Amino acid sequence: MDVIEIIQTKRDGRTLNKEQIDWFINNFSAGHIPDEQTAALAMSIYFNGMETDELTNWTKAMVSSGVTLDLNSVGKHTVDKHSTGGVGDKVSLILVPLIASYGLAVPQLSGRGLGHGGGTLDKMESISGWTASLSEKEMLTQLREIGGIIAAANENINPADRHLYALRDVTHTVDSIPLIASSIISKKIAEGTDALVLDVKTGSGAFMVELENARELAKTMVELGENSGMKTVALITSMETVLGKTAGNALEVSESLEVLEGGGPEDLIEVTLALAQEMLELTNIDADPSEMLASGKPRELFEKMVSAQGGDLSKGLPEAEFKKTIEASETGYISKLDCRSVGIAAWRLGAGRAKKEDPVSPTAGVVCLAKPGDQIRTGEPVLELHGDNNDSFDSAIEALDGAIEISEVAPNNYPLILDKIFT
Ligand code: URA
Repeated sequence: MDVIEIIQTKRDGRTLNKEQIDWFINNFSAGHIPDEQTAALAMSIYFNGMETDELTNWTKAMVSSGVTLDLNSVGKHTVDKHSTGGVGDKVSLILVPLIASYGLAVPQLSGRGLGHGGGTLDKMESISGWTASLSEKEMLTQLREIGGIIAAANENINPADRHLYALRDVTHTVDSIPLIASSIISKKIAEGTDALVLDVKTGSGAFMVELENARELAKTMVELGENSGMKTVALITSMETVLGKTAGNALEVSESLEVLEGGGPEDLIEVTLALAQEMLELTNIDADPSEMLASGKPRELFEKMVSAQGGDLSKGLPEAEFKKTIEASETGYISKLDCRSVGIAAWRLGAGRAKKEDPVSPTAGVVCLAKPGDQIRTGEPVLELHGDNNDSFDSAIEALDGAIEISEVAPNNYPLILDKIFT
């Protein structure tokens, strides 16, 4: 077997068999396949998709590239949530401590920024001293003692996804249903969770711009998850505009803290509570998560999670050196604030990476001072751009060309939760 034959099979739209898949993932994980060949295969999958059995084999091979965590010793029911990624999606930072406050274990293995969307680990790393790297033993201890972790899948857990994820980011092969489904579900099987709630984003800021594609992705993942013995449901949620008011690493941590402290934007709270409700239902807990959020316990638990991973919230969050505002060009209602454009602006300011080795800026990002539905007057600020480097602003501002629309009448409210997919 050789890699050229595998690339050719997929490039020509044929199906990879189990042997080919196992061979490729084994060699890729061992570092024997050059990035350009893996990129060529990812691009072929992007264009030609995968059959159901092929995707199941691919997902299993990714799980087998490393160890599967055995969470039995934690002694708690385990449930996790994973999002397909969006702009301003800081839900995990609130949801993990919220659900762990019920005595459940939330073993969240997260990723770094992909394309214009932010990554949970990049956000958490803006907290002074916090580390995403935990050994398996540390993960189990933290789950037992505190109940929640947000961490990177270490080299032993699904190394295939770790490397492929980074490579897809820089080769524009992220928004592929089989690649997203296998990446997410293989990570969740490897982390050993019993139950999983998926937040499948749709809209201009999501990888799945069209609702129908989001439904297909959700169905693919729910089926893959259930077939591997993990209780899985998916909510499809809107990414037509930024979730909450901020996009950028430290900015999003700060907004998450606001929610944990009883404030924060309504849309962010609504999506977080809807996902929390699904997580509780999957673990047979009959409770109202808004009451738990209001109790302050999740805020304390977040602090414990952060300290257990070396972080110190008392040091405050870093702030950008330079700020610029974008003002309304007329008076009226904001009828559109394009999510993707804001995500690209935040990325160009430094919040995301262009190459997989690039560092991200903890402070760069965008604050939405007004959102769709808000009234605004000519000259009032709509967006505040944050950056460490004055030179990054021009290209960020360029990305925002046409992103803000203002109308004379108030726009219709669009729903945030669009569908639920389950078996
Ligand atoms: N999140 C993941 O974990 N993987 C993807 O491919 C996309 C979003």
